[in-house]
This record gives sequence, C-alpha cells and structure tokens, in this order.
Amino acid sequence: MSNNLHIALFTLFAFGLPLWAMQNNAFEGRGVHGCVGECYEQWQAETGGVVAIAVAQAEEKANSTPAQLGEKAYAGCIACHGAGGEGGVGPKLAGQSIVEITDKLLRYKAGETVGAQSALMWSQAAQLSDADIDNIAAFVETL
Ligand code: HEC
Repeated sequence: MSNNLHIALFTLFAFGLPLWAMQNNAFEGRGVHGCVGECYEQWQAETGGVVAIAVAQAEEKANSTPAQLGEKAYAGCIACHGAGGEGGVGPKLAGQSIVEITDKLLRYKAGETVGAQSALMWSQAAQLSDADIDNIAAFVETL
C-alpha cells in the first residue's frame, strides 16, 4: 500500500466515523438532546423546545393534587417501604396520618433520631423539600 492510501484510510476513519455517528444520532441521550443543526430544529419542532417543555411540566405540576405529586416523589421510597406502604426494610407507612408522616420526615431531615435505624433515613429526607414532604404525606395517607 502506498503512503497516500494509508493517509486516506486514516483520514476516513478519524473524521468519517465520528461524522457518520453524529449523522445517525449515535450521541443522542447524552444530554437533553444530542444533536445540532437540522436535527435540533426537528427536535424543537416536535417538542416546542426547552421553554415549551418547561411550561408543560409546570402546567402538569399545577394541575396535580398534592397526593399525585407525592406519589411521584415516593418512587424512591418503594424499595424500602413497599409500593403500598406495607413496609419492608423500613417500617409500614400505610395507615399513618399526614401529621405523623410529616413530623417524622421533618425530624429525619433535621438529623434527629426517631428509631434505631434513623441513619438510613437521614440521607433520604435530606433530599426532600418541605413541599415534597407535604406531598408525600398526602400520598401516604391514601395508602
Ligand atoms: C434504604 C431504605 C429506605 C429508603 C430508600 C427509605 N426509607 Fe424510610 N425508613 C427506612 C428505615 C430503616 C426506617 C426506620 C428508621 C428509624 O429507625 O428511625 C425508615 C423510617 C421512615 C419513616 C418513619 C416511619 C415510622 O413509623 O417510624 C418514614 C415516614 C419514612 N421512612 C419515609 C420514607 C420516605 C418518604 C422515603 C422516600 C423519600 C423513604 N422513607 C425512603 C428505610 C428507608
């Protein structure tokens, strides 16, 4: 093979491959949207763009009841408390009142000890906003 052919092959792989990958959206999913130019315009036309998505999300939030929002926030709790709040690694939550759930979550958030395994809940509660706690308590009461 001549040197020129080597260079041509190298160039093809070094530049051709990434370009081909971009053309085929191989990078999609690595950010909000993994494309530029025409592809971005298409994404924007389909979704209305970042602003429209944010507006839709805000509307969904405004139209949801606290219990519905709480159900979403509860997704990270299912592993330990069960989908129906029946308990597992953590105690049973079903049957407890809004006041009881709110009170305990606020105490965990403040780093207070409620039971022997409170350490497991401190990191969980730390991630919850006060609104999350109200919503979760409203959801748990429906269980
Ligand atoms: C890693 C497992 C785990 C996860 C995940 C978890 N919990 Fe807990 N939870 C526990 C354990 C263990 C306790 C008992 C802690 C103690 O002894 O004070 C507990 C206690 C509680 C209590 C007090 C119950 C009672 O009757 O004393 C509430 C309320 C609670 N968790 C809510 C939640 C919520 C809401 C989430 C999700 C945001 C969550 N937990 C996520 C393990 C977990």
